[in-house]
Amino acid sequence: KPGPGAVPPGLRFEPVAPNTADAVTIPPGYEQEVVIRWGDPVLAGAPQFSPAGQSATAQARQFGYNCDYLALLDLPGERDRKILVANHEYTDEVLMFAGYNAANPTRAQVEIAWAAHGMSVVALEENRRNGRLSPVRGHRLNRRVTATTPIEFTGPAAGSALLKTSADPAGRTVLGTLNNCGGGMTPWGTVLSGEENFNQYFGNADLNTDPTAKARLARYGLRGLASERKWERFDKRFDVSQEPNEVNRHGWIVEIDPFDPAAKPRKLTALGRFKHEAAEPRLTRDGRVVLYMGDDERFDYFYKYVSKNRFKKGNSQSARRHNRTLLDEGTLYVAKFTGDSPTGEIDGSGKLPSDGEFDGTGQWIPLASGTRSFVDGMTAEEVYVYTRLAADKAGATKMDRPEDVEPHPRTGTVYVALTNNSDRGAAGKAGPDEANPRTGNRHGQVMEVIESGNDAAATSFRWRLFLVCGDPADPGTYFAGFPKDQVSPISCPDNVAFDPHGNLWIATDGNALKSNDGLFGVAIDGPNRGQVKQFLTVPIGAETCGPIIEERRVLVAVQHPGELDGASVEQPRSTWPDGPGHLVRPSVISVHRTDGGRIGA
Ligand code: FEO
Ligand code: CA
Ligand code: CA
Ligand code: CA
Repeated sequence: KPGPGAVPPGLRFEPVAPNTADAVTIPPGYEQEVVIRWGDPVLAGAPQFSPAGQSATAQARQFGYNCDYLALLDLPGERDRKILVANHEYTDEVLMFAGYNAANPTRAQVEIAWAAHGMSVVALEENRRNGRLSPVRGHRLNRRVTATTPIEFTGPAAGSALLKTSADPAGRTVLGTLNNCGGGMTPWGTVLSGEENFNQYFGNADLNTDPTAKARLARYGLRGLASERKWERFDKRFDVSQEPNEVNRHGWIVEIDPFDPAAKPRKLTALGRFKHEAAEPRLTRDGRVVLYMGDDERFDYFYKYVSKNRFKKGNSQSARRHNRTLLDEGTLYVAKFTGDSPTGEIDGSGKLPSDGEFDGTGQWIPLASGTRSFVDGMTAEEVYVYTRLAADKAGATKMDRPEDVEPHPRTGTVYVALTNNSDRGAAGKAGPDEANPRTGNRHGQVMEVIESGNDAAATSFRWRLFLVCGDPADPGTYFAGFPKDQVSPISCPDNVAFDPHGNLWIATDGNALKSNDGLFGVAIDGPNRGQVKQFLTVPIGAETCGPIIEERRVLVAVQHPGELDGASVEQPRSTWPDGPGHLVRPSVISVHRTDGGRIGA
């Protein structure tokens, strides 16, 4: 029977209370510092950030806006240095430019925004005395990828007619990557990043009159005329009526090799096209690579990819060349979840069914493998480019916004954050099921998926909900059976990661409990399973991203601080991290113990 025991290592800190401060709040005995801010110099010759002196050329050499995913890699041969890979999801023009006129942006502002999207690769130097990290400007590996950097398509849909445009008649090279959200790291040391809400950058979808094209656009959220940022006025590729296939070239997983600045990043078509949140790998028993992937939209799906060939260990040229093909040839699956309790017991309130758990079994339905389609009426190329429509036909389970995923490094159990779905059970929408048990779900849930035989290549699995999030005083919440008077409230799980002890850490986005978002640690086994403890809160308006929990350091990307209705440069709701008189700046922060000890020891 669950109940409190001794708090396990990694989680021994005083929880932070919910708050709405314009600050990062951390437990007593801890310190924080900003590692890198939007606009800080990255490439050689980059100027210091200047709010009034912004330019596209400067921004293309500086750290981008709205950092989300973070990967921190060792830098062989360079002592006390690491490589940070961050992505930059989108831009908040009203918080970037004084006097911004959303109806009539200038070319200069649009080009700065293009340069502020994408990814950054930055070497960091670690101070041996206090563990602090600071950027090494102009390091040979430092790199910026923006909305205009050439990126290569690979895999079965590269060169497809569906990817051809007037600027790229071969359908093999696209400019830029947009709306990069979560990510993952491959076993061969490259970084993956998910292109999420790419639809928002494209205008004039409604000028299209062909019913098939219209349905495809609508399924990806493309509708209306002018886009929010009006980019279609400055580059016709963002105008769907003029360049109908450009939109098909976004919504992919991007792979970048941080150790090879000359290599083009790649968009991996074998992994399908949807609003990719992240892609987290695991190896099968026989050494093939599996990626778990969420499509972050209300009522969208959970996917996995299984490579055809096996991962080769080592850093030789031939191993690297071989491993770089693993994500181009394989099988793409989508998940179907079946509950094991009578449907009548799932009443939409979050009340547990009579067997005491929201749980059941599931199947992985194949969609395509190489040039072979498993979906009636769709070619393999169509499955890869219009993956959502393929999964609709396959009968996948409509989920409550699948966000980040993380396989446990030791047990292999896959943790899936389902962030919320206020439309669950609404008129004309899917009602509650055992995997998505609450109508009008505002707080989300965290699921455990255990593959059959614990083999990542299995085509069936068991699953159960680990957390049904919200205010613990709400009877429709569940903390794996742990006493609810001893847990932190948690709402809208988004990014997930494990610490070196095997505890799960959850970053939130969209907290519907009237507190700022934050980062939480929770034990997943033992007597404290389900004891959620809040480690930090981020400033008002921000979401918590990219958590990396090391033995002595926690890194977090603070994304869109101060993003609240009506906020602007003139009327900011946040001036974090530099205080009044300064522009709010999304930044990466590091938290460590004041005495240099282990996190949560
Ligand atoms: Fe960009 Fe699904 O969060
Ligand atoms: Ca059940
Ligand atoms: Ca996210
Ligand atoms: Ca999010």
